[in-house]
Amino acid sequence: MLSARNLFQEILDDDESFRLFCSIAAGGEAQGGWENGRIAALVPESQRALAPKIARHGADEDKHGRIFNALLRKRGLQPAAVPYETDYTMLLEKYGIGLAHEQLRGEERLSERDIITYLAHSRVTEQRASEQMALLCRYFADHPDLGRAVTMISNDEDNHLAYCHEELLRFARAGHGRTIQHILRECALAEIRVYRDVSLAVMDHMGRILGWSRARSAVLAAGIRGVHAYERLVGWRRMVSLVPPARRDALGGPAAPEPGIA
Ligand SMILES: [Fe+2]
Ligand SMILES: [Fe+2]
Repeated sequence: MLSARNLFQEILDDDESFRLFCSIAAGGEAQGGWENGRIAALVPESQRALAPKIARHGADEDKHGRIFNALLRKRGLQPAAVPYETDYTMLLEKYGIGLAHEQLRGEERLSERDIITYLAHSRVTEQRASEQMALLCRYFADHPDLGRAVTMISNDEDNHLAYCHEELLRFARAGHGRTIQHILRECALAEIRVYRDVSLAVMDHMGRILGWSRARSAVLAAGIRGVHAYERLVGWRRMVSLVPPARRDALGGPAAPEPGIA
């Protein structure tokens, strides 16, 4: 039967597909970690108070990268090269979503608008991360190897999303509401397109590794396109709303250490 659970199970059971899955995840997390680390270093004076939270955000993403690499090591696998077309974080940057890496590699302080852009970009991508990890948690929270990892990452992604809501609402109260809505909308519409393209590319690679039939691949591709059509019509709206989060000051303390997976 074709279900998301079976699909994940199949990918996890095979060394080569598991290797690709973890490598893609680790690469995206590490890139997120680097971006946040640079943003924390370049925070404008007026937003100094935010720097430790951005640094914590980066530390969490770096930790997630290490967790996925540890899962690989535990199974005696080396990380695989991440195919260009499956690199979600890099493709978003290429389409001008979030802050450009060139800017982040520099030493010039960011502007307040840059910080809003970073938060709006994170608001959208953390929504995706939070939903994806919730899905993995639903299926594999009790898995002997993956359970602790997915539970911890899922909790962190929920924290990141809560933090984005809280900080963007603070900026909205300070009079940046229109700017925020504009950037959020632009980010969300670009993200759903990149997410579709990356999903199709990942499934294409997985299909080849796992020897899926043409019919099966076609059904999966149609499913991914269906999700995109829904998101383009109405689903994107869930990525641009701002509500006071149940978790307050979610990134207020230091990062929790990763579970001893390796
Ligand atoms: Fe993460
Ligand atoms: Fe995150």
